[in-house]
Order: sequence, then structure tokens, then C-alpha cells
Amino acid sequence: MKPAEFDRWVRTELDAVEEALTAWVPDNAPAGLGQAMRYGVLDGGKRVRPLLVLAASQAVGGLYEAALRAACAVELIHAYSLIHDDMPCMDDDVLRRGKPTVHVQFGEAQAMLAGDAMQALAFEVLTPGEADSAHFPGGPGVPPVLQARLCALLARAAGHAGMAGGQAIDLASIGLPLDEHVLRDMHHRKTGALLQASVLMGAATGSTSDAEWAALSDYGDALGLAFQVVDDILDVTQASETLGKTAGKDLHHNKPTYVTVLGLEAARRHAAELRDKAQAALARSGLANAAWLSLLADKVVEREH
Ligand code: IPE
Ligand code: IPE
Ligand code: MG
Ligand code: MG
Ligand code: MG
Repeated sequence: MKPAEFDRWVRTELDAVEEALTAWVPDNAPAGLGQAMRYGVLDGGKRVRPLLVLAASQAVGGLYEAALRAACAVELIHAYSLIHDDMPCMDDDVLRRGKPTVHVQFGEAQAMLAGDAMQALAFEVLTPGEADSAHFPGGPGVPPVLQARLCALLARAAGHAGMAGGQAIDLASIGLPLDEHVLRDMHHRKTGALLQASVLMGAATGSTSDAEWAALSDYGDALGLAFQVVDDILDVTQASETLGKTAGKDLHHNKPTYVTVLGLEAARRHAAELRDKAQAALARSGLANAAWLSLLADKVVEREH
């Protein structure tokens, strides 16, 4: 598949995601809350999770409205997780997506509330009524059974078994010499779960055999872990200007990471192995339209920010 075609697809889909988020994230929420929400989610970030949703949906011939809603919903959960992750009670970061963090800009209470409201908004976006679907004229809407399925996939990945649980392990692990098994479990939850859910939400918008679903699930699982392994690597190898967030902060906060546990070179090798595992799962799926998913797996591991 030609890279130029992929770049064109990425641009088109990211424009659609930005337009939808701009329409759905309110600017008139009370007492400045809408401004904090929009600051936290609009116009920034790589949007890897939305792209995974849309690529997986395309691979299974899924419903576009459902996929676009799922893409925005998962980005809202992700952006909320970043706002809270950066707060002084967690990673205490002042820079995110090249801008001051939400709590620096708007205060801690507003940052907490913006995250809370974005989490709720994600599920609102996934459960449109007929009137909410009006700007998808002539479309089939999102069948209620699919709405429920998408909500379940996202809720499980965001909650105690996924992101929030992983973040709890992260904070409880400061200064501890974790073994690789516990580290993998933490990374799977705090980051892998939402990336895997992105793939599965996309897959849920179309029809898949059990074998295709299992293969996509394995792809998302490997890719999700690879994403955080690379995040750990970039924290020590890139500058803050490139990352748009403070470099070197894992070491500064004494966090166990793939770099501290395995060493930099072994962490790099592991990320490449996980990419290969993701690619093998994709090949096993037998899906003919999986080129974008395959390219996304390469990009996740090769990225520089
Ligand atoms: C950063 O995620 C936090 C992790 C889960 C590793 P991204 O690297 O996807 O951040 P953005 O969305 O591009 O800002
Ligand atoms: C964040 O992990 C995972 C989340 C659930 C937000 P990090 O704390 O390593 O993410 P960055 O490096 O701040 O983006
Ligand atoms: Mg963190
Ligand atoms: Mg952090
Ligand atoms: Mg990090």
C-alpha cells in the first residue's frame, strides 16, 4: 500500500474526527468547564486511538457513523486520562501536547471536572438518539444493540480492570523494582486496554467471524503493550520539544518502566517483537482490507513522539 494513500486517508479521517469533536464538546458548559474540556481534547495529540477505530471498522466494512462516534468517544476517554495523569496528585506535569497542562491553565478543580465531564460525554457520544444523528443524513444511525456493545467495550477498558486500574498500579509502584510480569500487567491495563478497545470497537461496527475477532483482539493486545513500551523509551530518548510533554519524567519520579526493568536496547527489541506479534495476528485474521491497521502498527513502534 502506498504511503501517500495512507497519509491521505489519515488526513481525511483526522479532519472528520476534529470536526465531530468540535461539534460535540460543548463550549457553553457552565463556569468555564467547556473551555477546559475543549482545551484538553481539541487540536492536539496524535489521535492514534481514533485511527485504530476507523481502520478496524474499514477492515470489516463497518458502519461509518458508529465508527466515528467510537473514535471520538475513545479519544475523549484518553484525553480525560491525560488531564488526570498530569495533575499534581499523579504525575505532576506542566506540559502536554505542546501546551501548559489543563490544571496549570484552568486550576486543579476545573481539570478534575473537565476529565469527569469528558468521561461522561464519551458515553453520550456513543448513545445518540435519532435527533443526534441528524448530521449523518440518510445514514442508518447506530442500532441500540451496537450502542450497548460499544459502551461495554469502552467502559471495561477505561475502568478498574483497564486504564484506571493500571494507573492505580502505576502510582503504587513508584520506587519499586517491579518484575517484568507485573510491569506488563500495569502497561496492559493503563495503556494497552484502551488501544485494544479501539480496535475492537472498530471491529464491532461491522461483522466478523469469531476467528477474525480473536485475531483483531490479539493484534490490539500486542499493539497496545508496544505503545507503552515505546512511550517509556521516548521518555528517555527524546526532547520535551519533540514530545510536547516533559521528557525524562519517569526517571525523575522513580517510575519502573520497560527501560529501567529491561534496559534501553532490550526494550527496543521488545517493542519490535510486539509489533511483529501484532502483524502476525493481523495476517492470521485473513482480512483483506487490513492495510491501514498494518501501517498503524509500524507507525506506533517507529514513532518519535
Ligand atoms: C500518551 O498517549 C499517554 C499514554 C497512554 C502512553 P499518546 O502518546 O497517544 O498521547 P497523545 O494523544 O498523542 O497526546
Ligand atoms: C499514561 O502513562 C497512561 C495513561 C493512562 C494516561 P504515562 O504517565 O507514561 O503517560 P505520559 O508519558 O504522561 O503521556
Ligand atoms: Mg502516568
Ligand atoms: Mg504521565
Ligand atoms: Mg510516559
